[in-house]
Amino acid sequence: MRERALLVERQRGEATRQALVRSHALRTDLAIRHEGERLAFPLVPGATVPPELGEVDEREFEPLRADAPTEFRDLLGWPASETQLLPRSFDVVGDVVLIRLPAGLESRRFEVGEALRRFVPGTRLVGLDRGVHGPERRRTVERIAGEGAWTTRHRENGLEFEVDLERAYFSPRLAGEHARVAAEVQAGDRVYDLCCGVGPFSVTIARDGRAASVVAVDANPVATALLRRTLARYPFGGRVTPVTARVEEFVASAGPADRLVLNLPHEGIKYAALVAPLVAPGGSLTYYEVVPRDEFARRGTVVESALSASGGLSVRSVRVVHPYSPSSDLVAVSVTRAGT
Ligand SMILES: C[S@@+](CC[C@H](N)C(=O)[O-])C[C@H]1O[C@@H](n2cnc3c(N)ncnc32)[C@H](O)[C@@H]1O
Repeated sequence: MRERALLVERQRGEATRQALVRSHALRTDLAIRHEGERLAFPLVPGATVPPELGEVDEREFEPLRADAPTEFRDLLGWPASETQLLPRSFDVVGDVVLIRLPAGLESRRFEVGEALRRFVPGTRLVGLDRGVHGPERRRTVERIAGEGAWTTRHRENGLEFEVDLERAYFSPRLAGEHARVAAEVQAGDRVYDLCCGVGPFSVTIARDGRAASVVAVDANPVATALLRRTLARYPFGGRVTPVTARVEEFVASAGPADRLVLNLPHEGIKYAALVAPLVAPGGSLTYYEVVPRDEFARRGTVVESALSASGGLSVRSVRVVHPYSPSSDLVAVSVTRAGT
């Protein structure tokens, strides 16, 4: 039957499915369509879908078979008392699936890996995600199903990024944030992407074409090497200058910029204070920090006073990007400097 459909890139499929389920917009009686690199989700008639989730069109859908699994957990055949301890969500990065497990279920990780490999179409490798660590925020992963290297290519916002899940930071959960920040860039802006990782902010900004220059800085040489490989595949790649350096070193000799992005959430305000003097008149800095939920309401005031030494900066917005832990969120803080 022909129905309204939400079209998204396959790598964003799981995050999109969860968003649609949360907003009661996904039809659960029809099968999701697999169209090569894209998925088509059947939408509940009349449901509104935020435009950033993807393109809405129409598609033919087949009724879901009564015995078809709707979650990877259904493939395990575990009793409900055990299944309910498993997370529902997982991440898809290129052809790699990552999942976090509670400590009590780690001994059964290979069964979980195999269920995920069968459940997510196109999966080559499944990893147990033990989180990111150290100053370079490298991820500790263990293979629990499938084969091959942790290097892959991940699509987001219509771009394809070179990723090495073990050796350089990347999270598929920031795709919306990368697009949102890129959309704010104005014609002629000089942009600094500080702590750029494999460069999703920079590459998206360069593709959009409004920035006069984009300098992407990261201390991890593996991250900047991956960024160079991504840039080499695009005609607009020359608009980004990757720099392998610590922010502290870069700031010492850098001139002003109109748009700064700083994504080093665990250092929070410390690095924001360091780079704030580089914000040009009329320019802005967006930086990320992990904020305990009970401090969120006061955060704008706290940030403004912490950055007061730079003079002329005011907080434009403080917004939650996504939950970080049961009691804290990843938060984006935008500060602006008054124009001359
Ligand atoms: C959370 S990741 C940000 C990745 C990227 N902005 C993104 O959106 O995917 C933080 C990055 O900061 C880099 N980093 C950590 N400390 C740094 C420093 N002092 N100077 C420059 N880069 C640093 C790490 O290597 C890592 O790639």
